[in-house]
Formats: sequence, structure tokens, C-alpha cells
Amino acid sequence: KKVALLFGGQSSEHEVSCVSGATVARNIDREKYNLLLIGITKEGRWLHVESVDQIASGEWRQSRKGAALLPDAALKSVLLSDEGRFSLERVDVLFPVLHGLYGEDGCPQGIAELAQIPYVGCDVLSSAATMDKATTKAVLERCGIPQARYAAFRREELDDMDGVVRRIESALSYPVFVKPSNAGSSCGVSKAGSRAQLVEALELAAAQDCKVIAEETIVGRELECALLGGWDAEASGVGEILAGAEFYDYDAKYRSSASRTVVDAPLPAGKREEIRAMAKKIFRAMDCRGLSRADFFLEKGTERVVFNEINTIPGFTAISMYPKLWEAAGVPLPALVEKLIEGAAV
Ligand code: DAL
Ligand code: MG
Repeated sequence: KKVALLFGGQSSEHEVSCVSGATVARNIDREKYNLLLIGITKEGRWLHVESVDQIASGEWRQSRKGAALLPDAALKSVLLSDEGRFSLERVDVLFPVLHGLYGEDGCPQGIAELAQIPYVGCDVLSSAATMDKATTKAVLERCGIPQARYAAFRREELDDMDGVVRRIESALSYPVFVKPSNAGSSCGVSKAGSRAQLVEALELAAAQDCKVIAEETIVGRELECALLGGWDAEASGVGEILAGAEFYDYDAKYRSSASRTVVDAPLPAGKREEIRAMAKKIFRAMDCRGLSRADFFLEKGTERVVFNEINTIPGFTAISMYPKLWEAAGVPLPALVEKLIEGAAV
């Protein structure tokens, strides 16, 4: 089988995706699979990358062996290389290891659908819906999944900043988290403890996305559960993030050695099963398939399990929870990658 691995991408999580892509590439059985590495630059050029070692170093971005996106009339060969080096037509499985916009949001999944190439992970609808925090919240609210109280706004509404602030202040109490509706790795996210900080946070988030959400702060432990399989996916055990910062922001995630993860979080009786069941319910409610990681809080004091977010292409970095949770459940990375490839569908 020829597997095309996509990494990099145009989102704010480009660098994270390169690290994830390198991890996945190193764990693909090269005797079984013929690997085609495709790096996507921040500008959106698709480049052929020669070796796995080049991925994380970023060297590949200097390559001039670029490709152009040229949907032809038959929509069969969606991707053609300007040097004829690669074409999605000749690929058996597309494996997007792309985080965030133009990666986790249904866009590459749509290309694979058009080209009729089986791909790893969630389909167009579930990718797009889960990428958008406001949409995810609206869907899950209907399914009775407990989550933080929130308010969502379109960028245009911020023209009346006073009105937006009043609405947030009447619904939520400080501190509130403000997030772009579509982003990952905490990019554009801030915690606002006052009106002045709220305005700044809304402007920052709105610079990244046309929709923003404000959420009440849940104080508690951060827990994560991994999902793998078809619509009836299996849930892993429950891991815990011990953030080395005020919250688990970009630096705490990828730059700080103070953040730690625990793969088998010690939990009060029944909570592990409650979280695993809730993770599966969320996966089905959002119509996911293949893989996802669902993130929760265990609220301090009430011991309430509160849904935080779901990622359909979770990180595969050295500190990332998704591969660690499966390893702890008896599925080491090479086997995990193989399961993902074999589960590819169109
Ligand atoms: N968005 C990052 C990659 C994660 O959730 O793991
Ligand atoms: Mg995320």
C-alpha cells in the first residue's frame, strides 16, 4: 500500500504537526507500506519530502520540488506535481497528520473524498464540526454532555464591544477563558480576569477566527481519553495533564518541561468509567471515526466531569497523550499507526 502522510500545514499548529508527522512516519512499517511524505508549507504549498529526518528539522521547506493543487475536470487527480513526482491518484491511503485549520477541519478530508482516496480519521462533517468549538458545544448540549457555560460571538458582533462585554458579564463570572472558535494548541486563547482583559482577549481571539467563544473557568483536574476505531470506537484509559503554567497553553504544552502527563490518572471511584463512557458518547454524537482525543475537567469540589474539547487529529509529539494512552492500553505506536492506516475509509 502506498500511504501519503500529510504534515505541516497552514494553521498556527504547523510546527506541532511537523513533530507529530515525524513521529507517525518513524512508526510506519516500511516493509508493509510504501511511504510518501508530503509537507505542506505555511503558505499552502505541497512539497515532496525526501526523508523522515527532514520533517522535524524544517529543511524540507526549502525544497523546490513543489506541487500545485489542480482539480481537473474528472476530480480524479486532484493533486498534480509540477514535476510529476507525486499525484494523489497513485496513493492508496491519505494520512493527514495536520492540526488545526486546513487540516483538522474537513478541508483535506474533502480533497480525499473528491479524489476517492481512503483517508485516516474523521470525515468531512465530523472534522469540521469538532474543529469549531461553538458548533461542538451546541451539538453536545443537546446530548446532555456537561460542559462549561459559554457565550459565542461572530467577529462582526464585536463592533459593539460594550454590548458583547455586557452579555458575557451577565452570563459568566470572571475569570473567563476566551478562545477562537477554530484553533488548536491553545493558540489565541487567554484567560481574562477583568473587563479590560476581556476586551483584549476578545480582540486577540477574533484576530484568529471569525467566531470567538467565552467560557466560564472550570477549576479542576485536566483529564484526557483517547478513542480509536469505527463509530463504535474503543476508549483508552484516562490520562491527566499536570500543567506547568496558569493553564495548559502553547508554551506549557510544547516548550515547558514543567508540564507532566500521567497515563493512568488516580481517580475517585467510578470516574474512570464515567469519563470513558462520556468520551465514547461524544465521539458518536459528533459522528467521529478513526481517532480522536476527548478532553475533560474533573471539577474541584463538585467532582463533576465536565467536557472541555475534542481533537480529531490529536498530537503525536513526545509529550502527547494520545499515543501514550494507547501504549498504556497495550497498543504500542507502530501497532497504533497500522490500525489507523487499516481503518482508513472514504
Ligand atoms: N491540538 C493539539 C495537537 C492536540 O490537541 O493534541
Ligand atoms: Mg486542541
